[in-house]
Amino acid sequence: MAKEALLRFGKPLLIVAAMLPLAALIYAALNNGLGTDPVKALIVETGEWALWLLLACFAVSPLRPWFGAAWLLRFRRTLGLLAFFYVSLHLVVVSNYLFFWDWAVVGEELSERPYIIAGFSAWLLMLPMAVTSNNWSVRRLRRSWRRVHMLMYPIMLLAWLHIAWQVRSSYFDAIVYGLIIFSLFLQRVKKLRKSC
Ligand code: HEM
Repeated sequence: MAKEALLRFGKPLLIVAAMLPLAALIYAALNNGLGTDPVKALIVETGEWALWLLLACFAVSPLRPWFGAAWLLRFRRTLGLLAFFYVSLHLVVVSNYLFFWDWAVVGEELSERPYIIAGFSAWLLMLPMAVTSNNWSVRRLRRSWRRVHMLMYPIMLLAWLHIAWQVRSSYFDAIVYGLIIFSLFLQRVKKLRKSC
């Protein structure tokens, strides 16, 4: 019964839950609650939610056998789309408040801050995954769809580079994220080897 309810209401609940941080961010922005550097707060918040959702999506496959929960797979696509939503929001905030939608500024920032190239490349690689995430594409692309989803590996690597490259003082977060991503990589490679 509980499992049935989870399968039925799990996705809408997940979407509502994932929208709560955005609602909190909008509320804080409208009430001067983003601190002394509101732009920085918006960039960091959207970036962190993008990263956590991306990690959750990447973790589904390796965690599934541990919890013996095949139903976890049903949430993977939603998690991926939510991650893409937050990364796109992050990109819009950066483009608006740091780049001012000006190509000259974009060029300058890209040459000065390589971590932006890593972040932008990750977003670009997420595009085909988001576009082909519907049932029609899954049916049409069949084996190629699986190949498209191998993009998850370079995406995770680029997302990590994007964060590690920004470090100015403490490497703690970059190391923790790196270890999580690396262990998920290992689990996935083990699984791939078994299925070959
Ligand atoms: C998978 C893709 C991405 C993820 C997971 C991600 C995640 C993050 C995170 C977590 C931060 C905050 C780091 C901190 O704690 O200070 C951040 C900062 C930043 N991101 Fe991204 N990001 C991604 C893509 C992008 C893209 C596409 C752009 C723009 C082209 C971008 C531009 C920036 C900038 C400029 C900052 C630094 C803001 C500052 O401290 O001045 N990111 N990102």
